[in-house]
Amino acid sequence: MKDVNFRNGDAKTAIFGSEEMLQPSPVDKIPDGPTTPQIAYQMVKDETYAQTQPRLNLATFVTTYMDDYATKLMNEAININYIDETEYPRIAVMNGKCINIVANLWNTPEQEKWKSGALAIGSSEACMLGGVAAWLRWRKKRQAQGRPTDKPNFVISSGLQVVWEKFAQLWQIEMRQVPLTLEKTTLDPEDALKMCDENTICIVPIEGVTWTGLNDDVEALDKALDAYNAKTGFDIPIHVDAASGGFILPFLQPELKWDFRLKWVLSISTSGHKFGLVYPGLGWVIWKDKKYLPEEMSFSVNYLGANITQVGLNFSRPAAQILGQYYQFIRLGFEGYKNIQYNCMKVAEYLHEQIGKMKPFVNYSKDVVNPLFIWYMKPEYAQNGKWTLYDLQDKLKQGGWMVPAYTLPENIQNYIVMRIVVRQGFSRDMADMLLNDINNAITELEKLEYPTPTRIAQDKNIEIKGSVFTHTGSCKKK
Ligand SMILES: Cc1ncc(COP(=O)(O)O)c(C=O)c1O
Repeated sequence: MKDVNFRNGDAKTAIFGSEEMLQPSPVDKIPDGPTTPQIAYQMVKDETYAQTQPRLNLATFVTTYMDDYATKLMNEAININYIDETEYPRIAVMNGKCINIVANLWNTPEQEKWKSGALAIGSSEACMLGGVAAWLRWRKKRQAQGRPTDKPNFVISSGLQVVWEKFAQLWQIEMRQVPLTLEKTTLDPEDALKMCDENTICIVPIEGVTWTGLNDDVEALDKALDAYNAKTGFDIPIHVDAASGGFILPFLQPELKWDFRLKWVLSISTSGHKFGLVYPGLGWVIWKDKKYLPEEMSFSVNYLGANITQVGLNFSRPAAQILGQYYQFIRLGFEGYKNIQYNCMKVAEYLHEQIGKMKPFVNYSKDVVNPLFIWYMKPEYAQNGKWTLYDLQDKLKQGGWMVPAYTLPENIQNYIVMRIVVRQGFSRDMADMLLNDINNAITELEKLEYPTPTRIAQDKNIEIKGSVFTHTGSCKKK
């Protein structure tokens, strides 16, 4: 029987002495009445209490560590909506400064005071904007020539991130995939050109392929495309999806030409919230020049002492990330970014070397070109062992680590791999702890007398974790 006076509680009631702590959290219906902020806070906080620690999540590319001042700045700007430029004109200017800085990191030739680019929620929105611009430019040209515009296509490797499937579906633009193979681990320029025709709006190489961590060779593609365009009379451009590489290459491989130094690279996108070192969600897309950004996509404002161009799929969006990005640029400078990316690379190389020495494993590629890499099981282990990489993933999860196992894309889908992304906040010491945990997990898995359920599923052609295993032990993605 409920003692109303005692149980109803008030502001003095201890959180864990309250009635709410005996109730399940709301699932379908809004609660009838209010509760104290302390109790509401505790309930929401506790619901995520048992989750992996963000910095032990080696699956994500997205920033999980920023310093206290960055966090303070971003928290202080949490109530600012970027779109309200009239109220917050300084933030629009700050956004323009970030676009300028990113454009110059990528060697833009544009001479305007404010470079042509746009803020995005992440690479996904940034890729979409780059893709739409390419499509509108192609369409305008075709219309002027009186040619049909109903069958646009773009060319990309099968190592594409899901955003490009979305782009193809949402804008109804055919996606032509150049298959990756064990021999051709990145986009082959000649194979890409074989898929091009007069309806190709752009080719999309990737710097920091999500599945493998490798880089497509944009310079070789640009060279081959230049000859192709000259021969055919087409002017197919390149949009570089540099979701990760956009903030790695300028610091660690400044001599590598993958950016606006190349003739046919007209737009580039990246995630400010990956190696741009800002909490989610932030992306950037930059065009080589104003003339490549179709007017239909831009909204100009002239009340900021200059013309600032606004482009985006979203309207309202948080401004805090812009402050976070600008803070990082000032706080770290070129040298500071270089130091962090260098350390990430060194830790990734160390892990790559150590994992490559472990008896059951082979690294997918010899080199580490971005601070992430994948490995798979040696064929004899994959065929005779009692466990799979999915079992290792589960074991590591017990220690708080998230190290994902997955199958590679079409053509190489027989390979189950594991991936580690090293980000700011992951030190050499933590790498040693992880290696220790991997070694312990392997020792335990090696002691198994019977195959694990994933191993049995693999042998019996049972669907597991989004893949269908065949009798031969290979598997294909559903
Ligand atoms: C190559 C590539 N493109 C696009 C994206 C999408 O990025 P975002 O999560 O910033 O939207 C990713 C994310 O991992 C990626 O790796």
